[in-house]
Amino acid sequence: MKTVRDYIRTIPDFPHEGILFRDVTTLFADPRGLRLAVDQLLHPYAGAPIDKVVGLEARGFILGGAIAHQLGKGFVPIRKKGKLPGPTIGESYTLEYGEASVEIHNDAIQPGEKILLVDDLLATGGTAEAGIKLIERLGGEILGCAFIIDLPDLGGRDKLVEMGMNIHSLCT
Ligand code: PRP
Ligand code: ADE
Repeated sequence: MKTVRDYIRTIPDFPHEGILFRDVTTLFADPRGLRLAVDQLLHPYAGAPIDKVVGLEARGFILGGAIAHQLGKGFVPIRKKGKLPGPTIGESYTLEYGEASVEIHNDAIQPGEKILLVDDLLATGGTAEAGIKLIERLGGEILGCAFIIDLPDLGGRDKLVEMGMNIHSLCT
């Protein structure tokens, strides 16, 4: 039987020379692949008192929406700067290949709400770290951070563990 890893393809030199881009569109496009990924991402949180699922733009929206639907909970997007229409708070960060800022609506999470943070891939951890800071600034309590892919050589996992996060990933 195919595993999640088998559905992911690697594109060399995207978006820049030297980057091996792990492309999950082939996983999402396959009905068994998508279901397998969502089920496995949720597995460790069975019975956990999650109030909301937060997804990181852009592929975290696809996964986060499916996971929130499966849990019967709401979904909150963390978007790249300038995309959310209401009042926001923001955090800047550095990427494996650039710099960016992300934002969340300042009323999207209530203090004490328990959050599952979702994205497709953990590399340097800059994106997830910014997301964690935003959630915590709004008073959210992060129960877990779930990723399809962890690239451990880039240090993201260590960074998030140092922040006290519980990390779940499906392949490295
Ligand atoms: C990718 C990926 C993660 C982030 C991980 O998104 O989907 O969100 O990079 O990298 P990091 O751990 O080094 O922060 P990208 O920034 O390419 O944005 P996109 O999903 O909007 O294309
Ligand atoms: N985001 C950061 N690094 C990445 C990689 N190697 N593949 C896909 N997305 C990424």
